[in-house]
Amino acid sequence: MHPALAGDLSRLPELLQSARDVAAHEAEALAERPVAVSGTAPPPEPLPEDGAGADVALARFAERWAPGFSGSAGPRYLGFVTAGATPASLAGDWLTSAFDQNLSGAGGSWAQELERQTVAWLRELFGLGEAHSGAFVTGATASNTVGLAIGREWLGERLGVDVSRAGAAALGPVDVLSGSPHSSVPKAMSVLGIGRDRLRKVPLLPGNREAVDVAALESALAGLDGRPAIVVANAGTVNTVDFDDLRAIAALKERYDFWLHVDAAFGGFAALAPEHAALVDGLDAADSVCVDLHKWLNVPYDAAVQFTRRRDLQVKVFHNASPYLGLPAGEPDFLHLTPENSRRLRALPAWFSLVAYGRAGHREIVERNVALARRLGAGVDALPGLRLLAPVRLNVVCFTLAEDPTQERVDALARAVAASGEAYVTPTVHGGVPGLRAAFSNWRTTEADTERVLRVLAAASG
Ligand SMILES: Cc1ncc(COP(=O)(O)O)c(C=O)c1O
Repeated sequence: MHPALAGDLSRLPELLQSARDVAAHEAEALAERPVAVSGTAPPPEPLPEDGAGADVALARFAERWAPGFSGSAGPRYLGFVTAGATPASLAGDWLTSAFDQNLSGAGGSWAQELERQTVAWLRELFGLGEAHSGAFVTGATASNTVGLAIGREWLGERLGVDVSRAGAAALGPVDVLSGSPHSSVPKAMSVLGIGRDRLRKVPLLPGNREAVDVAALESALAGLDGRPAIVVANAGTVNTVDFDDLRAIAALKERYDFWLHVDAAFGGFAALAPEHAALVDGLDAADSVCVDLHKWLNVPYDAAVQFTRRRDLQVKVFHNASPYLGLPAGEPDFLHLTPENSRRLRALPAWFSLVAYGRAGHREIVERNVALARRLGAGVDALPGLRLLAPVRLNVVCFTLAEDPTQERVDALARAVAASGEAYVTPTVHGGVPGLRAAFSNWRTTEADTERVLRVLAAASG
């Protein structure tokens, strides 16, 4: 054994203790860590020839790189929909690496059963019935890709083509219809050989809405003359968190032939809060569903879940055919359900968080975040230099400069907010107007944090 490895092996408990100390310090200081860091990263270094041991690696990381890492897991980082990691999920994430399980059924471990149990809990949390099965993937982009891959296979079934063998080209042109799809949907279409240009944007409801006009969707489906299609419904759009009417869209299935995929990346969490659960009414009728867990469940990157009613088609797409991997009768191993073969036990952090805080704890996070978004929305509305671009529907405040909101001026505002180190918001364009989004999803965010964000916005726009 290399001496550096042998040395680390002999001191493994001490080494993990040192890493714990660094992590604990960072986690404690997170709320006050600058939300965004500027400056230049250290210059590239040559590949180390002789290893220096893990203590040196830890010290070098702490000294050279950690100061440039942002507080994006903290309470006033309101960019994208990032959230953070609950204490229990962080512990679960550490143990995922410590146990480093082989998740294939042939691996002789119960780890796969833990993933199955966690998926079943999540299915219940999001109000899905037992007809839905699920698997963990790396994020909502992967979840949308898997859902559309199963939908593509379903199109083959309808048209008498075995897509997993003959390829996507055998389908001919595919129609994917959606109102306000996330950019990961055309990306998935590119990956799947459907092609980004086959996305047909359906008109939205009038009145500053991002939800699809179901009557327009029906006309578009009628125009396909019976050709099967894929519909992507959106449960929580990134700018204004608008929701398609899932029940009305699902009802169209009685008259038109389509695969219904729902991107509920973060909007799916509305199901946890009685006041908002109606927004995802009808989710269970979907053929495939995407929910991101590193967003509003507050588990570390990278974790999302994908659900489907057609596990048989999923296996057709993702079956990893080799005698050494097997495909036993009954529950397929996850490696036959997702793009990855070897996979991390990314269910463990979610399992930890659900055991530690339960449905009620996670509901409290969702409800508090929504209340804080409303509070910031009201505050922004009252500031003379800013105006809301849309009502606060759930957990995102979409706003812009009251006067002359050019891209340049809005970008400058975003930079000024980030430079404060106090808050972080991301630029967007809504209804053709450049603006900013402040997304609440972090378990730590409080009223005091929201007031601090508001003060920064007031100063930067004043
Ligand atoms: C609605 C929606 N879908 C998909 C995604 C992609 O998620 P990920 O970055 O986890 O791939 C996002 C991310 O913001 C999203 O908001």
